[in-house]
Amino acid sequence: MINAPKGTKDLLPEESYKWQYIEKIARETANLFDIKEIRTPTFEHTEVFLRGVGEGTDIVNKEMYTFNDKGNRSITLKPEGTAGVARAFVENGMFNMPLPQKLFYITSCFRYERPQAGRLREFHQFGVEFLGSDTADTDAEAILFAKTFFDKLNVKGLTLYINSIGCKKCRAEYETALKNYLRDNLGNLCALCRERFEKNPLRILDCKNEECKKIVENAPDILDYLCDDCKVHFNKVRELLDLAGVEYKIDSKIVRGLDYYTKTVFEFVSENIGAQGTVCGGGRYDGLIEEFGGNRVPGIGFAMGIERLLLLLDSIGVKIPDLNRTEIYIAPMGEEERKKAFAIVQKLRLDGVSAETDHMNRGIKAQFKYADKIGAKFVGVIGSDELAQGKIKIKEMETGAESFVDFNDMSEFVKENRA
Ligand code: HAM
Repeated sequence: MINAPKGTKDLLPEESYKWQYIEKIARETANLFDIKEIRTPTFEHTEVFLRGVGEGTDIVNKEMYTFNDKGNRSITLKPEGTAGVARAFVENGMFNMPLPQKLFYITSCFRYERPQAGRLREFHQFGVEFLGSDTADTDAEAILFAKTFFDKLNVKGLTLYINSIGCKKCRAEYETALKNYLRDNLGNLCALCRERFEKNPLRILDCKNEECKKIVENAPDILDYLCDDCKVHFNKVRELLDLAGVEYKIDSKIVRGLDYYTKTVFEFVSENIGAQGTVCGGGRYDGLIEEFGGNRVPGIGFAMGIERLLLLLDSIGVKIPDLNRTEIYIAPMGEEERKKAFAIVQKLRLDGVSAETDHMNRGIKAQFKYADKIGAKFVGVIGSDELAQGKIKIKEMETGAESFVDFNDMSEFVKENRA
């Protein structure tokens, strides 16, 4: 037997209906906010992520699936969605389209991480990117969109944390202050954070190592270092969230793991799903499009992990409806009846009714069992009497109620009795 690669997962029908539901709500909610779908390639030139995600990040340093293709080009499977969207935005001249461009995607992502609950090597993101606006309104709307989506799914128990990590100018000042503070404790930081000290000192703030956590407890606070422009922006985001009734906590230790962020950053975190509790993360990235050779086009977005969202929904007992229920199963009793059943289910399907019949030459009892297993709402049996009369007895499985219906009226009958 050959197993699937470590950190990947088969999605069987008993679970795929949940994904379909989440994707449906995602698309519907996006439509309410006038957000259009973008699909970018599964792999990009490695350069896209070096520039986009950043060379000092864990993703680029350790986690990318990078290989040379047969033409000897360095190719990388996308570890996240934003960099590819930024590349596509510039390449397709989307800055000439009406701004802001409000985009969403549902995509596979690939990161070579140590697999555990909520952490896979192939996982899936639902993300949005709003490009072209630098107003705080857009930040607030991105957050509100995520909140609206969670509400529509009946997700409870997520805490929204927000922070501002400033712009290039004020962050540089903060980094100097942070490094001055950390320098005395350098020997006590974990090996990873010692590496981060030069390349990416901000990441030390959200290290999960207990010793590092203790050390950063008294570190200078980034919010005290924001320049006037960043301060006004952050306050405006907060004001708009307050107005919209969105609850949040400010956590000045949230810095996010990717290099492109500026100003607002945020995360929705759950306590219910173990160590990988960040279901959704995002923020503003005002310099990213320039990295791809575009003009200065500001942006903000977020992505949520669909696997983590499902873990959360399961843990809080949200029941996800199966939208693919078989509406009617037609059970033929003999050879002649099979032909009729074959024709009837095809007619039902063309009329927009989900219908199934026997494929396995089962007896009538076994057919009922099967119909029950696939969750058919109705079962109709065709025997010689039914063939002769052109009528069928239809049983509603849940209630046991029976009706006689003309062969020609079956589609109408099912449609009229849809739950
Ligand atoms: P990220 O925080 O790296 O941000 O990932 C976003 C979400 O993807 C996480 O909150 C988590 O739910 C999920 N995720 C990440 N890694 C894994 C994994 N190995 N297994 C399962 N789920 C995972 C980004 O990717 C940014 N591109 C978000 C963004 C969009 N910022 C602005 N626009």
